[in-house]
Amino acid sequence: MFSRFKKPEAGPSSGSAAPANTARPAAVPAAKPGAGVRPTAAPVRPAAEVVAADKEKKRKDRLGELKQELHKRLLDNLNLAAIEQASEANLKAEIAAISAEALEEMAVVLSKDDRVTLNQELYDEVMGLGPLEPLLKDESVNDILVNGPNRIFVERNGKLTLTDITFKDERHLLRIIDKIVSAVGRRVDESNPYCDARLADGSRFNCMVPPVAVDGSLVSIRKFKKEKLGIPDLVRFGAFTEEMGLYLQAAVSCRLNIIVSGGTGSGKTTTLNALSSFIDNTERVLTIEDTAELQLQQVHVGRMESRPANVEGKGAVTQRDCLRNALRMRPDRIIVGETRGEEVIDMLQAMNTGHDGSMTTIHANSARDGISRLENMVAMAGIEMPLKAVRSQIASAVNLIVQASRLQDGSRRMVSITEITGMEGEVISMQEVFRYERLGVEPNGKIIGRFNATGVRSHYSDRFRQWGYDLPASIYEPIN
Ligand SMILES: Nc1ncnc2c1ncn2[C@@H]1O[C@H](COP(=O)(O)OP(=O)(O)OP(=O)(O)O)[C@@H](O)[C@H]1O
Ligand SMILES: [Mg+2]
Repeated sequence: MFSRFKKPEAGPSSGSAAPANTARPAAVPAAKPGAGVRPTAAPVRPAAEVVAADKEKKRKDRLGELKQELHKRLLDNLNLAAIEQASEANLKAEIAAISAEALEEMAVVLSKDDRVTLNQELYDEVMGLGPLEPLLKDESVNDILVNGPNRIFVERNGKLTLTDITFKDERHLLRIIDKIVSAVGRRVDESNPYCDARLADGSRFNCMVPPVAVDGSLVSIRKFKKEKLGIPDLVRFGAFTEEMGLYLQAAVSCRLNIIVSGGTGSGKTTTLNALSSFIDNTERVLTIEDTAELQLQQVHVGRMESRPANVEGKGAVTQRDCLRNALRMRPDRIIVGETRGEEVIDMLQAMNTGHDGSMTTIHANSARDGISRLENMVAMAGIEMPLKAVRSQIASAVNLIVQASRLQDGSRRMVSITEITGMEGEVISMQEVFRYERLGVEPNGKIIGRFNATGVRSHYSDRFRQWGYDLPASIYEPIN
């Protein structure tokens, strides 16, 4: 088991990542009663509890004030130039010494635990990203979402919850944002109110500051996971079944062109990364992303990251530039992290002209919707082509659409695998081979469902067999 999926000790997340039954039907594991549900009406709290909560709040406020004061003193006393060279232990010792001295001077007595917390927070403030630091370290957190200084949400197991962590005020939040963006040579201010960046640990970061962000700065962080989820993990977590895994292995190995489609945070990149594990080690794979997230295990991988223009509006390198260049770099396969614009043209052409086995993701809610998105992207790229020609280009380029989805209970599942089989008149014909069937909902909100075959035999069965992937006919048989 991966520790990052261990259940948080507190909090209402309902453990979507708990191991699911891998055999069909994939029964949704029962969650603890009450998990993931918030009481709708606040129950009357006993007086003792109210007093305790009040005391805890006062304690936090006091610590917050002290931290502010100590932080000021630290900035006055610490040799900022020497910080870069100092080891973590040395710096921590230095901070502890300065804060102990200051506390004594202020005649403040703190418990040992409070002192440890305070010193850690001061360290995070000086060296790291302040209040965000514990969340970045928390392995169970997938996303961190900041809506102004007083509201920080986290996503665990597909569920969003409000934390009790806050920034002191908007200025504090802006200072941390500035720290992040200046580390990548960017700046945010009124004239450049938003920015994408990558944190030192690889996490994807986006921010938007006032006045465009109306109620205070907005920050979104997608945490970078060193240990990516592989196919066996996804099967274990109930994202799809072993049979679907076998089918996908055949599809990737037989060089079908695959699109992973899904909504935001539905697990597209994770699925793409896991699918890439089926690529043979002898192949040369080039990856193109806006923010490098993919971690391929192959030996021969070339990674590219697009780049926005600098402050003078110069030096932009788009995904399309990378893709065009990649075609001159003798790739066996090209993987584009997310196709969202004009690069769609080059992607479709690459898929049609000898770089089969290429893969990408798109933002769409179903396979059919995904096709429309591709059509729209082609139109918006300014290519004047009759719709039928666009469609036939898409139909011959794309073989498979894998639909990822985050269900209401927070679980992420591959809800459909659809093959593109050609054109019928003006319409692209498709057939769904596997789907997730919802059967009901448990009282605690957990969705009950199962994966099922649709009964359609794969359009690519012959190809699979010719390439040595003789899938048993039974995997296409539906259960009733
Ligand atoms: N099947 C799964 N079970 C549990 N967690 C998952 C699963 N799939 C993805 N995750 C986690 O969900 C988070 C979002 O996944 P991912 O980055 O793949 O989504 P995405 O669709 O690419 O999002 P975006 O639209 O923001 O690019 C990640 O932290 C990932 O580890
Ligand atoms: Mg993604």
